[in-house]
Amino acid sequence: MTLEEIATFIVADGKGILAADESNPTCGKRFDSIGVESTEENRRDYREMLFRSKGMKGNIGGVILFDETIRQSAADGTLLREIILKQGALPGIKVDKGLQPIENFPGETVTVGLDGLDERLKEYAEMGAKFTKWRAVINIGDGIPSDECIHANMDSLAQYAKCAQENGMVPIVEPEVLMDGEHSIDACYDASERSLKSLFEHLEKYQVNIKGTILKPNMVTSGSNHNIQASINEVATRTIDCLVKNVPSELPGVAFLSGGQSDVLATAHLDAMNKIGGFSWKLSFSYGRALQAAALKAWEGKVENIFISQDELSHRAEMNKLASLGEWDEKLEDR
Ligand code: 13P
Repeated sequence: MTLEEIATFIVADGKGILAADESNPTCGKRFDSIGVESTEENRRDYREMLFRSKGMKGNIGGVILFDETIRQSAADGTLLREIILKQGALPGIKVDKGLQPIENFPGETVTVGLDGLDERLKEYAEMGAKFTKWRAVINIGDGIPSDECIHANMDSLAQYAKCAQENGMVPIVEPEVLMDGEHSIDACYDASERSLKSLFEHLEKYQVNIKGTILKPNMVTSGSNHNIQASINEVATRTIDCLVKNVPSELPGVAFLSGGQSDVLATAHLDAMNKIGGFSWKLSFSYGRALQAAALKAWEGKVENIFISQDELSHRAEMNKLASLGEWDEKLEDR
């Protein structure tokens, strides 16, 4: 498959991405919430359960994995990445190495991982990964984000994207403006616009093929502690406006992160945007928490809960596919 074919396949027909690339510490936090110990085997069992869910088929075009998971086999010995392929989705891999504070810029971080990236990508390509992900994090606060932080993060994102394409894999570029804080939706718009402008300038500078790239942005929302939360319609219109002004039309897909939104709200926002329309790219999802939260809660680490947990994941995958087509309705959530 060419880069263009991979990128268009992942977001075809309303399909989206299941982000299951939580690092072991993050997975530990998720498991703590249901009282399950984060062992290698439990992480395997949980992800095997997700990937075998009926609702993967037809709704999920790609799954982002963590290094441990792309190497893991299911309890019956089948590689987890083979299960993903059988469900009609492509396996992808998170390749950044996390956040590092920027010296003299309090409250800001840069994502690291360019050292040795080419070798790591070669190994993942051999294992069958078809796409990759790198997440940059932009914080909003007093006087931040700084231009220096945005520049450093977008430069690394673009270098990573070039390297992924040279190794035959589609880069998912994720410039996440965090929801955390008391800021207004205007502040989120401004930080998102500055980040996207800088990102596409850097992608052009490093001659990244935009047609073989997927953007994973945040939606433009009020800060999670802002006193008034913007309505669904306002989030939808401000997000579309920001993207249309700053994202080239030849990009095949935009797949949002959920960033701490509740699962139904993340679906409602995506649906509202697709009902409004007026953009050239597929507008889809690459949710972690908003796809997994209900499934994780239902599971509790117990074998007897596997079917209800899979049913929860299947339901969310289906709801988000409908939202990607602008065909979701709140009534469909009543089951
Ligand atoms: P959330 O949807 O939980 O924000 O996770 C998506 C993701 O992959 C963050 O990098």
